[in-house]
Order: sequence, then C-alpha cells, then structure tokens
Amino acid sequence: MNVSSHTALPDTAQSGSAKILDGALAAKAVNQELAQKIATYISSGKRKPALAVVLVGENPASEVYVKNKILTCKELGIESHLKRFSKDASKEEIIAGLKELNDDATIDGILLQLPLPGQLPTNEILDSIAPDKDVDGLHPYNLGLLFSGVPGLQPCTPKGIIVLLQYYQIPIKGKNVVVIGRSNLVGKPVAGLLLQQDATVTICHSRTENLAGICKQADILVVAAGKQEMVGKDWVKPGACVVDVGIHRLKESTSQPDGKAKSKIVGDVCFDEVKSIAGHITPVPGGVGKMTVAMLMVNTIFAYEQHIGIQTSS
Ligand SMILES: NC(=O)c1ccc[n+]([C@@H]2O[C@H](COP(=O)([O-])OP(=O)(O)OC[C@H]3O[C@@H](n4cnc5c(N)ncnc54)[C@H](OP(=O)(O)O)[C@@H]3O)[C@@H](O)[C@H]2O)c1
Repeated sequence: MNVSSHTALPDTAQSGSAKILDGALAAKAVNQELAQKIATYISSGKRKPALAVVLVGENPASEVYVKNKILTCKELGIESHLKRFSKDASKEEIIAGLKELNDDATIDGILLQLPLPGQLPTNEILDSIAPDKDVDGLHPYNLGLLFSGVPGLQPCTPKGIIVLLQYYQIPIKGKNVVVIGRSNLVGKPVAGLLLQQDATVTICHSRTENLAGICKQADILVVAAGKQEMVGKDWVKPGACVVDVGIHRLKESTSQPDGKAKSKIVGDVCFDEVKSIAGHITPVPGGVGKMTVAMLMVNTIFAYEQHIGIQTSS
C-alpha cells in the first residue's frame, strides 16, 4: 500500500489554530484502496481474505471494538469469524483455540482482542499465534522484523500513526519526535517506525525527569501514556504536531432521557487547550483509533497476499 502517494493535501478542518488530523478521513482513503484491491483479487478467481477475531470475556469496550472491526471487514469484502471464550476460560483452552486457527488454511489473520481478563498471561497467549497470521503485529518475531527494518506485520496503532502523518504530509525526516510511553503495544513500536522514517526520537516514560521540558522540544509529540488529559499547552512547542493515542471513557453524571448515563471519550491531551498552540492535532475520538482499525485491515490483506503467494512490501 502506497500510503504516501497523496499528491494534494487533504482539507484540514480548522479548530482554534491547530489543523485537525482527521483519522476517519485518512482511514476511509486507506479502506477504499483496500476494497478495490480485494475486489480485483476476487474477480481474478482468488478466494476471499478471512480474519478471525478472538474475544475472551464480555468487556463492554472490547465488544464495541470487535463489532467495529467485523463491520469494517464486511464493508471491505473480508470474511470475519468471531470466536468467543468465557471470561473464566483457561490459558490452555484459549491457546488450543488459537492453534486451531493457526492450522486453518482458510484463515489469514488472527486478532486476539485485548485486554484479556486479569488472570490470563497476555504475552504467552499472544505468542501462540502463528507469526504469519499475527495481524496485530505483536508477536516477538514480527516486532523483531520491525526493529530490523524488514517488511512484515507491524502493530496497528503505531503503523496507523505513521500513515496518518504521511496522509497529511507532516514532515518526519530529521524532526525531533518525542514519544511518551514505552509499551510494546504503542510506545516502543511507534518509536521504531519513526526512527525508520529518519526522525530523531526520544522515548519518555513514568521515570523521565523534566518530562514537560523534553516534550516542549518536540516537533512531533506522540502521547501514549494512558493518563487522562495529562498534556497541557505548557508542554507543547508552538506549531508542533500533537498525536494523542490515549482513550478514556468518562461517564457523565447527567443522565439521558432513556435513563442511561452519557459517556464522553477524551485522550491523554487536553484537546481544547493544546489546539490553541499546536500546528496539528489528532482528535479523540476520530483520530488514531480510526487508523488502528484501518491498519488491521491492511495487515489482514498483507497476510492474505503472503498466503496466496503474492509478494508485496508492507
Ligand atoms: N487509539 C488506539 O487505537 C489505541 C490503541 C492502543 C492503546 N490506546 C490507548 O493509548 C494509551 C496508552 O496505551 P498503552 O497500551 O501503551 O499503555 P500502557 O501499557 O499502560 O503504557 C503506558 C506508558 O506510559 C508511561 N506513563 C504512564 N504514566 C506516565 C507519566 N505520568 N509520565 C510519563 N510516562 C507515563 C508508562 O511508563 P512506564 O513504562 O514507566 O510505566 C508506560 O510506558 C491508553 O490510553 C490506551 O487506551 C489507544
């Protein structure tokens, strides 16, 4: 997928002084390109690509994410299979289910929806997914490829951040990029991908001294700390590009006519404050989250192409 091929800069809505990096718009462009590609494969007699989504327990947020992923598969022409396990399922049961999917030649990608219920060893279970079907890109083999600069299945959220920056033609090469967060899911892989794009990358974490001062040096600030509205305008260099990865669902006390509590989603960045000083900013919702689902689809098609014997770069 040539995501940097947009010749015209897309419209950017103005909000305060910052331009909004609209993840829904970029994801739509990615999905349209994928849908065309899939239609071409199918019309040439190839089988349909297929994604298996594995859900353990009944976490309400996970249910919403899984529903969105299955819906997107349907829109693009990807078959989806939902495999559910109860919240009390054992590690052995889940690994056995994943192995069945590994051995099923009609399945291209396997997505294990995170987080798993607390008693389960997430890494051990993730590692039992075959690397060639690991569309979340979290298997140590695929993370190794990423840090070696070899094409492969890359984690969806970090890859989505790069594609979003490329879509809006935000320069990365030679820029000073600060990433807050060092998780295997977001912080470390996004830093690795930014390094491949020739950025000068600083990774910060909970023990970093002078965090605000370091952030204020950033041309691009990626915030993946999981701390609600932690970054205010005093942390941001005027004109910087701010990418907010955080997702926090807040329940508002005012109840709706239907009796249900209203919920609001915010990120790790104080959007209203930071938009007055940043040059570009991602909204929450409607920013990085939209790109994550689109990259899951990109990875599923990458895996499918490997399985049907078509050579591509990721
Ligand atoms: N939009 C999406 O599609 C998407 C996808 C994945 C995650 N997310 C969201 O992104 C956020 C981060 O996710 P994650 O899985 O990376 O979280 P995580 O595993 O909890 O990692 C958080 C990282 O932030 C660091 N950190 C925490 N508090 C900090 C502080 N006060 N100052 C500096 N660093 C701090 C931690 O440092 P230590 O290592 O020192 O503890 C850790 O490295 C969450 O809100 C999550 O919901 C969104």
